[in-house]
Amino acid sequence: METNSVSSLILFFCIFLVMGSQLISGSVTYDNKAVIINGQRRILLSGSIHYPRSTPDMWEDLILKAKNAGLDVIDTYVFWNVHEPSPGNYNFEGRYDLVRFVKTVQKLGLYVHLRIGPYVCAEWNFGGFPVWLKYVPGISFRTDNEPFKAAMQQFTQKIVGVMKSENLFESQGGPIILSQIENEYGAQRRALGPAGEAYMNWAAKMAVALDTGVPWVMCKDDEAPDPVINACNGFYCDSFSPNKPYKPTMWTEAWSGWFTEFGGPILQRPVQDLAFAVARFIQKGGSFINYYMFHGGTNFGRTAGGPFVTTSYDYDAPVDEYGLIREPKYGHLKELHKAIKLCEHALVSSDPTVTSLGSSQEAHVFSSGDGSCAAFLANFNSTSAARVLFNNKHYNLPPWSISILPDCKNVVFNTAKVGTQTSQFQMLPSDSQLHSWETYGEDMTSLDDSTTFAAIGLLEQINVTRDSSDYLWYITSIDIGSSESFLRGGQKPTLTVNSRGHALHVFINGQLAGSAYGTRENTRFTFTGPVSLQVGTNKISLLSIAMGLPNNGVHFENWNVGVLGRVELAGLDQGKRDLSRQTWSYKVGLKGEQMNLVSPDKVSSVEWAQVSAITQNQQPLRWYKAYFDAPSGDEPLALDMRSMGKGQVWINGQNIGRYWMAYSNGNCGVCHYAGTFRATKCQRSCGQPTQRWYHVPRSWLQPTQNLIVLFEELGGDASKISLVKRTTAGVCANAFEHRPSVANYQIQSTSASKMLHQAKIHLSCSPGQSISAITFASFGTPTGTCGSFRLGNCHAQNSHSVVEKMCVGMESCKLAVSNSYFGADPCPRVLKKLSVEAICSTKMS
Ligand SMILES: *[C@@H]1O[C@H](CO)[C@@H](O)[C@H](O)[C@H]1NC(C)=O
Ligand SMILES: *[C@@H]1O[C@H](CO)[C@@H](O)[C@H](O)[C@H]1NC(C)=O
Repeated sequence: METNSVSSLILFFCIFLVMGSQLISGSVTYDNKAVIINGQRRILLSGSIHYPRSTPDMWEDLILKAKNAGLDVIDTYVFWNVHEPSPGNYNFEGRYDLVRFVKTVQKLGLYVHLRIGPYVCAEWNFGGFPVWLKYVPGISFRTDNEPFKAAMQQFTQKIVGVMKSENLFESQGGPIILSQIENEYGAQRRALGPAGEAYMNWAAKMAVALDTGVPWVMCKDDEAPDPVINACNGFYCDSFSPNKPYKPTMWTEAWSGWFTEFGGPILQRPVQDLAFAVARFIQKGGSFINYYMFHGGTNFGRTAGGPFVTTSYDYDAPVDEYGLIREPKYGHLKELHKAIKLCEHALVSSDPTVTSLGSSQEAHVFSSGDGSCAAFLANFNSTSAARVLFNNKHYNLPPWSISILPDCKNVVFNTAKVGTQTSQFQMLPSDSQLHSWETYGEDMTSLDDSTTFAAIGLLEQINVTRDSSDYLWYITSIDIGSSESFLRGGQKPTLTVNSRGHALHVFINGQLAGSAYGTRENTRFTFTGPVSLQVGTNKISLLSIAMGLPNNGVHFENWNVGVLGRVELAGLDQGKRDLSRQTWSYKVGLKGEQMNLVSPDKVSSVEWAQVSAITQNQQPLRWYKAYFDAPSGDEPLALDMRSMGKGQVWINGQNIGRYWMAYSNGNCGVCHYAGTFRATKCQRSCGQPTQRWYHVPRSWLQPTQNLIVLFEELGGDASKISLVKRTTAGVCANAFEHRPSVANYQIQSTSASKMLHQAKIHLSCSPGQSISAITFASFGTPTGTCGSFRLGNCHAQNSHSVVEKMCVGMESCKLAVSNSYFGADPCPRVLKKLSVEAICSTKMS
């Protein structure tokens, strides 16, 4: 025993000496246990907030919400394509003001993990690469290729240089404690072989040579070379170990939900499972966890990747797309974080001792030399609760859960027992009317103007547009002789168009003949349909639409978009006619885009018409405009686009994003938290439009005369678009009384656990709201969940009136779950709980 601890002491000093040189050059280092900041090993809790996915006006509030949830670090990618729109021309303005974002984090006292990439994936257009990069001669992305490496190095240097010049690295007194180079490179490296290996080594060396004074991370690449730390991304990471024994165990993306694609359902992740995954990682010895996303936000403009990633990037994150707290996700994680922090000293000072407590139950105990002890009791069984014996005491563990005991005795948190309130959001009509609707037809006769060019055959779309617009016209004509038999009552000819993506509208002589779409998984699709042709020249105009460029896959930069053939007409007297190799005219973008009709300065440059007569036949390819005053209050705002088809919408010249009322095709069954989670496990909104509401940041509005302009591809009733406010509709809370003596409910009171487990419920509406009514209250044995509570056999008759008296009219209220509140015990010797459902309404001023 004696010699063991002496030799481990010697070992510790050796490691310390090795690390010593790093300690001098920078104040952030690491060892096998943790990231070390100013000499202290830390358990670091982090959350992803991507600066371009919200507005600078929102940043401070979002970061503060992260801080209040107990986070230490804000993680963001750096988005190359927005910062360098053309080679050598940089943009760090507005939503792209990275320095301001990092300084806001610093001001609030948090750290930053700066994931430079510059490949970022992120469901962001082209994975964050500028599209011009694809057209650098001889380039090949993310491999041992000189033009690519030169461009990547130049941008990485640029970002590091900007951060250094503002003293933003921790080694300079700033908040940045970690940086990432590349992103999830493992799969690509394996696919590319030696070239991938060489590139990975080059990238690591290049990054380290930038001498930031803080460690570099490579996520999802288990061969990340020293001193770069390899890290895990996933729904669970407890089976992950770093590739060297002297690196800390880091989880750079703990997925809080999943992204959404047009036509798909909303994908959610129950907080009990997320908390379980986090606790599993910590009990295994993990010391850094980043929620991806903590706030997902919005893919404004054409920033969504894809194809078909929605404008909303809500991600079922603890803070929702609009910046509102999502409960119980936020509150339950906050409690988890408090519990983990109570264990911090023991966690960073020792390795866990794991003992089996049953067939799928384990204790992970961290006990350091100085007497501190923390234990995690885990039940991996997804169907059965377990009663386990640990240190001579019994503990009850719900299925698929972990209890945290910061003193190895008292449970302060269990991942499956959610004590925080549940909130439900609603979209309420605002007091602002969109008025003076006018419309303008995207003029198809203008397709013959000087910006059109001709070529033989079909061209790849992005090569032509360079992604300056989603839209590319492919136009050709076909002559029909008067002798064709279909003209005399025969079957109409059939047009077939093969496309590589992503969406297509087919016009014959200016009339919409039909549309077709690919999917995210398979962008190829075929349009086939009968077409009305007349004697003489017929014009075939194909509007091909890119719906966000791909953001991952091996060499995704080479994936084609657009009508690439064949294009074929069948049912003529000659049989089939192949149109693929004839002359096609091309026009990039829409006429309205060219004229910048969406900007308040340019909107009057065309003749707009009153909407009424036109909307009755809901024509395709139309622009609409209207005006509105900013709604009162400060609730987040959204456009309800339900009456429309597909297109883009701008407010005061700012692109709100792509909209599409594609209906969710999914499987929205019952979702239970227990059991291994997959992205498609918990689906919502089946049979509804995938995305009906589109976030309008308040800061983009002026008090009056705001201009909304939209381009509608298919047809819709613009006069029915409305501006709504997002608020909390109601809140629910549900908690058991505090009775340690009752079996099956085990909580002891110490100073630590008191903080976490007072048997209280806390109801809280959004700022500016108050509780206007109690729709359910029962102290006893109520059943059900928020929205479907029911009385049980035991019920205190005065439950409703007591809760009403305490809560109605208040912005928030706290209630103890105890007999003393409700008078006589309605059912002695029975474990009781209090369930409450309340309605939130805007406060009358
Ligand atoms: C879970 O518990 C049930 C009941 O005790 C048992 O039948 C089942 O085998 C357990 N499952 C696992 C994976 O241990
Ligand atoms: C892109 O367009 C140019 C002409 O503008 C052509 O030379 C080149 O082959 C095209 N590349 C691809 C990949 O289509």
